Amino acid sequence: MKLFIFAQFFKFILTSGLLLAVGLCVWLVLAYKPPAAWTEAEKAVINTLFLASLPPLPVDRSNAASTDIRAVEMGHALFFDSRLSVNQQISCATCHRPELRFTDGLDKARALGKSRRNTPSIVGLAYSPWLYWDGRRDSLWAQALSPLEDPQEQGNNRMAIARLVTEDVEYSQQYQAIFGELPDFSDRSRFPENAGPELKSEWYAAWVEMEKDDQVLVNQTFANVGKAIAAYERILLPAPSRFDAYVQSLVSKESENSRDIFSNDEIKGLRLFIGEARCIECHNGPLLTNFEFHNTGIISYPGDLPDRGRVDGVREVRRDPFNCQGLYSDQEPEQCLELIHAREGVELIGALKTPSLRNLKETAPYMHKGQIRTLAETLNHYNTAPFAMIGHNEAEEILGMLSFELNQLEAFLGTLQSPIDVDARWLEPPQ
Ligand code: HEC
Ligand code: HEC
Repeated sequence: MKLFIFAQFFKFILTSGLLLAVGLCVWLVLAYKPPAAWTEAEKAVINTLFLASLPPLPVDRSNAASTDIRAVEMGHALFFDSRLSVNQQISCATCHRPELRFTDGLDKARALGKSRRNTPSIVGLAYSPWLYWDGRRDSLWAQALSPLEDPQEQGNNRMAIARLVTEDVEYSQQYQAIFGELPDFSDRSRFPENAGPELKSEWYAAWVEMEKDDQVLVNQTFANVGKAIAAYERILLPAPSRFDAYVQSLVSKESENSRDIFSNDEIKGLRLFIGEARCIECHNGPLLTNFEFHNTGIISYPGDLPDRGRVDGVREVRRDPFNCQGLYSDQEPEQCLELIHAREGVELIGALKTPSLRNLKETAPYMHKGQIRTLAETLNHYNTAPFAMIGHNEAEEILGMLSFELNQLEAFLGTLQSPIDVDARWLEPPQ
């Protein structure tokens, strides 16, 4: 009897050992076999991600100064100027740090207070029809006005900012060269020291007491501050990465050389990205984003309400007095096609803007509230496709990728690193 049990046990060990060995061999073969050559169809898809396929830099018709080099210079100075904040200590660059691809390395931004969301990169955003994670602004210039008055961010008011531009010798010269004559804000009975429509601010009362026409003069100057900042942001674009060098060699048919540019894992990761893993459904085009809004089931922090995202953002952008159809836009209202045709509806509950995947090393932590710290965790998220806390997870299919496949995807994402394609002087405060 004892012998029988022993024999059974021995058999069990042997078969499971055998199975394990076979499994290991299959795993090794799958993980290490060289990648197959690209088909023409695959090459065509890869070419759509190539930086050289990027269309010419769009001109923002709602901002007549968007291509004016003088506005770029002025915007550069404004972007780094902490005098624009209420305590003189916070500039755009406090949170959008050039060395971190214009992000801040934090989960949620911090300045005067804690922001609701994670600081996104602003590189390549001139291509984005919508700004913010929920797209509640429709141009770079309209966006730039919000942090200046946000009590959690720069906490200032538009009257003080308009006055700063008038009183600073350099800004007032730059302003008048670009936008024409500055209004005269010296009459304190019409233009108080501080005033702005931010409901929670101490300057609200002074603002509502101002004449409508005077409010318009302040708004106009304030809008132009945004337009100069936007002209600066527009020049911030990604330079070609190792991935682009790889595509270059593929399309120029020097496929032999492309083997030197990408490792086998990187090639397999790219194949997963455009194929089985379905990343390309949303992360497409040369910036690896469709600039659209999707619910991908990212879990909120405990105690944080789930983010409603675009469903609220689309309502807010329609109400924004600085939107494309507003008084301060240089575009004809009927030409604002993006705004007119903006998608609405319940499918946008919990939908956030797809971020670019270029330079992920500098932009961690990830997602709209910085909920995910590493790329490996991000890939796990997609692999397991959790239910969304609100709305419906669009990336709901459980991918079931194996650990070596996740590593290959991560290896591919690492090839998208590159510098910012501007002269270094634009990445520092002006001298
Ligand atoms: C307190 C830190 C902070 C400051 C200061 C700040 N930002 Fe931001 N910025 C953020 C956060 C956080 C978001 C995302 C907020 C959201 O989507 O709700 C953001 C979003 C943006 C976006 C939109 C990005 C996208 O992907 O759509 C742009 C552009 C931008 N900021 C530019 C600026 C400019 C210009 C200034 C200065 C006038 C500025 N920011 C000041 C933290 C900051
Ligand atoms: C259904 C559209 C969709 C699909 C499919 C998709 N993504 Fe995303 N991705 C998004 C959106 C939207 C976000 C932002 C989500 C948020 O913050 O709530 C995002 C965020 C990310 C981020 C974080 C970037 C950052 O700067 O915060 C990474 C990395 C990423 N996705 C990689 C991938 C990979 C790899 C795949 C394929 C496995 C993939 N995505 C599939 C839409 C998608």
